[in-house]
Amino acid sequence: MGEPGPLCLADVAHLAEAALAADLWDFVSGGSGAETTLAANRAALDAVALLPRVLAGVGEAATGCRLLGTDAALPLAVAPMAYQRLLHPDGELAGAEAARLAGVPYVASTLSSVRLEEVAKVGADLWFQLYWLRDKSLVDSLVARAEQVGCQALVVTVDVPIMGRRLRDVRNGFRLPADVIAANLAEGTTGRAHDDVAGESALAAHTAAVFAPALDWADLEWLRARTTLPLVLKGILDPRDAVRAAASGVDAVVVSNHGGRQLDGAAPSVDALPAVVDAVGEHCAVLLDSGIRSGTDILRALALGARGVLVGRPFLHGLAYDGARGAGLVLSLLRSELRDAMTLAGCADVAAAATVSTVRNVRAR
Ligand SMILES: Cc1cc2nc3c(=O)[nH]c(=O)nc-3n(C[C@H](O)[C@H](O)[C@H](O)COP(=O)(O)O)c2cc1C
Repeated sequence: MGEPGPLCLADVAHLAEAALAADLWDFVSGGSGAETTLAANRAALDAVALLPRVLAGVGEAATGCRLLGTDAALPLAVAPMAYQRLLHPDGELAGAEAARLAGVPYVASTLSSVRLEEVAKVGADLWFQLYWLRDKSLVDSLVARAEQVGCQALVVTVDVPIMGRRLRDVRNGFRLPADVIAANLAEGTTGRAHDDVAGESALAAHTAAVFAPALDWADLEWLRARTTLPLVLKGILDPRDAVRAAASGVDAVVVSNHGGRQLDGAAPSVDALPAVVDAVGEHCAVLLDSGIRSGTDILRALALGARGVLVGRPFLHGLAYDGARGAGLVLSLLRSELRDAMTLAGCADVAAAATVSTVRNVRAR
């Protein structure tokens, strides 16, 4: 009998690590500073222990749901991630194809290496992630383009006033190869992201040059008035910000520390989740990302009140391993793991998953 293929997301990660150049692996898997938050995301998820219900007559759980008005095969969207052509020549086209086939929303990054208009042609349920640029007319035109191509939500990332210091990238002198560009921005010029910048990551230098560091609530209110698309704020940890967001007409927040890539020392997002759900859960949807690596992790998030999750790095691992097929494999593993975890926990559907109780596993790694 032949070897079984990858059986879990960790298997896919190992295959991706073997396939990628060391500096690219570091760019994808690394975090900021001492990577305390990166590690804590995992430890905190492992510490959420579930209390399964029995004799619930479930048979096989159904994972389908609605996420912000989009029908989804499971409560998951692909996290926005920049420059996917670094991982596979088809980049975002392969990513969006995997999401389309799996029936989950694909969030296209402002820093996509394929133009939004091309990604839209793939036909996935598409959300657009907006980074606030210094040039407001560019922000305006990105929003117009997202509306034009039929994006179903706008995800505004609010935890990158500057880029967190990613020491692996600084040490590796990481920069973009010439053929990978920020295709959505002016004529694809990525400027400094291609340069060798002494003592700094080239991507951080590019961010500093292009992103607006002093984004505030007035900007958000301008955006709320500017578009009727559902608005999602990504990168919320403090319930006070969630309350302000809900009051500003935001439709959903993503409790996230950017996968441990921004403020090192920020709380694990799963630890911050319950207070945000308590504060705004009735007024806006609460999603979670940072460290989701299995169907059990998705169930943990649902049990703590999230409506769904975003998945980041594992999707890129799948892309690196086998393009659209590899990314699709990651999504189908997550779906079957979630179905099994829900069945084992006695949850017939996603609504029932929200009623599962948890305790703290103090012995978790
Ligand atoms: C390589 C890479 C690129 C990313 N690019 C973006 C981006 O362009 N916009 C954004 O909002 N978040 C970006 N993120 C953060 C993800 O959207 C997400 O918050 C994070 O990866 C979730 O954690 P996880 O990787 O542990 O699942 C990026 C993450 C990675 C790993």
